[in-house]
Amino acid sequence: MDPALPIGVFDSGIGGLTVLKDLAARLPNENFIYLGDVARLPYGTKSAHVVIRYAQTCVQFLVNRRVKYVVIACNTATAMAISEVSHMVSVAVTGVIEPGVKAALSATKNGRVLVLATQSTVKSEAYLREFERHGYGTHVEQIACPLLVPLAEEGWFNHETTAHVIQSYLSKVQYKEFDTVLLGCTHYPLLEESFRRVLPQSIALVHGGPHLAQTVAQKLTEERLQNSSDSHFSHRFFSTDTISSSLPIIRALFDHPVDFELVDLERQ
Ligand code: DGL
Repeated sequence: MDPALPIGVFDSGIGGLTVLKDLAARLPNENFIYLGDVARLPYGTKSAHVVIRYAQTCVQFLVNRRVKYVVIACNTATAMAISEVSHMVSVAVTGVIEPGVKAALSATKNGRVLVLATQSTVKSEAYLREFERHGYGTHVEQIACPLLVPLAEEGWFNHETTAHVIQSYLSKVQYKEFDTVLLGCTHYPLLEESFRRVLPQSIALVHGGPHLAQTVAQKLTEERLQNSSDSHFSHRFFSTDTISSSLPIIRALFDHPVDFELVDLERQ
């Protein structure tokens, strides 16, 4: 396989850009293709068979554009569809659940981790299984936070209303007993400043992005797939519908131009 081929990254919307940012920082010589399936967002309220079908069409889109690696930058799609999409492609596929658990385990000191995620991710119990698989005596609780994805898509990243919504979700548990909050949805790191309006600094706020970037870097090295050509490094952004409200704020997060090209996944 040609190491100059891009890495394909997808999410239901703009959330996966938080993962792309970590990937691009860790792998500055790589080319990336990003797909945000905003036309079918949210994934986080949908049932498994629907999310599997959506994830498969996203992966097919990336594979048709000849990617050397697929990153599922969506917790919901990882929780529900990683094995189905891994079976349909010959390239490596990495999702965000395991890296998120690793991030939480390296941050927690009292072994109490609070996972915030979409309804579908919480219901799948993928995080609980992954914590168990790591065999730590960690006490994990989960809260579904369905209103946070629309607030992120709207661009209300650092906003009083977002902070109120976060506060009301957190009040479902004794959140101050947890020393680590794991953001188990890739949209949530965009809301970090709103989280910080509510959470004391003593509570670590972590997500899987940096660990995922580390895993991808390691796999590319093992498979001798790092891009070492002098080819022009590019990032291409595709979406299945227009992204308007949050685009100006998103652009400020990246050093390079973020311009989305519209695609129709039903006609690929
Ligand atoms: N960003 C996605 C995740 O990490 C979910 C957003 C949605 O509900 O579509 O789960």
